Amino acid sequence: MNTILLPADAEGITAAAMYLARGRLVAFPTETVYGLGADARNPAAVAQVYAAKGRPSFNPLIVHVADLDAAARHAEIPPEAADLAQAFWPGPLTLVLPRRGDGGLADLVTAGLDRVAIRVPAHPVAQMLLHAFGGPLAGPSANASGRISPTEPAHVIDPDGGLAGRIAAVIDAGPCAVGVESTIIGWDGQGVPVLLRPGGLPAEAVEQALGRELGRLAGDVQRPTAPGQLTSHYAPNATVRLNATEARGDETLIGFGTVAGRLNLSPNGDLTEAAAQLFGMLRQADRIGRPIAVAPIPDHGLGHAINDRLRRAAAPRIVSG
Ligand code: TXA
Ligand code: MG
Repeated sequence: MNTILLPADAEGITAAAMYLARGRLVAFPTETVYGLGADARNPAAVAQVYAAKGRPSFNPLIVHVADLDAAARHAEIPPEAADLAQAFWPGPLTLVLPRRGDGGLADLVTAGLDRVAIRVPAHPVAQMLLHAFGGPLAGPSANASGRISPTEPAHVIDPDGGLAGRIAAVIDAGPCAVGVESTIIGWDGQGVPVLLRPGGLPAEAVEQALGRELGRLAGDVQRPTAPGQLTSHYAPNATVRLNATEARGDETLIGFGTVAGRLNLSPNGDLTEAAAQLFGMLRQADRIGRPIAVAPIPDHGLGHAINDRLRRAAAPRIVSG
């Protein structure tokens, strides 16, 4: 299969929607990272997503919809979820909600779970695509399982860890503004909101909107159905050493702020800029072919998501996610 690059204009989006309607896979831009789109109602299309990514089938997929009304067709929206949707959709927030039996989603999307992860992306091209397609799109990050998430079209078709030849098309809309995946919020058995994955929306902002603190799940590879819990995720080929203040030996140092490196996530110490640069710089460092060291990143706001991804990149490669 030849993977084609579609322009992010009306014609390109119409072509993308046609591929999707025929059950084909199309990578599309979101404000966080590029997603691997498939018709979430079509089991054969969803099965191809797992195949193209080489993803363990127990890892469920995020469903992208155009707005809250569309989300309500596929999931129940309890009051706290509605508050968060009002506050942050469209945007880098995913909500794990009770799945509606009559919502028409393929069972494979949720990997058989009775909850579905839903998000309304803010990227204008994602919005145009959802409107042109007129249905829910399953959309995991558009990378091979366990590899770094793509923040540019070139990453999607990278010969190393990309999906060239495995998907019909990529919509080319340039780099993603946020650069790390969406923040995932769910509710536990007691109805307590829980941070399931730190991401592009700072957890503090969610807590402020809810007026209460989020519970946090400890990382646990024994429970791979919890999102982002597969430890070795976002993995470059090289080993990664964290909290480095200088390069040792032949390491490539990725700096931050005053810790200058061969590369620097943000010379001004700006966490938003660092998040947007993170995956691209990990790729860039990885291409140099030497061990990678990364400067300390402050652990607040977006730094929480950045450190989560860095810990996964540095974890031993025992589990594929
Ligand atoms: O920013 C993002 O969220 C990107 C863009 C493309 O939207 N998508 C993304 O999807 O990061 P993915 O599939 O790479 O990561 C989704 C995470 C996984 O860790 C998965 O386990 C979890 O969400 N997840 C999905 N559905 C779930 C469900 N029903 N219950 C619990 N966790 C779920
Ligand atoms: Mg992913």
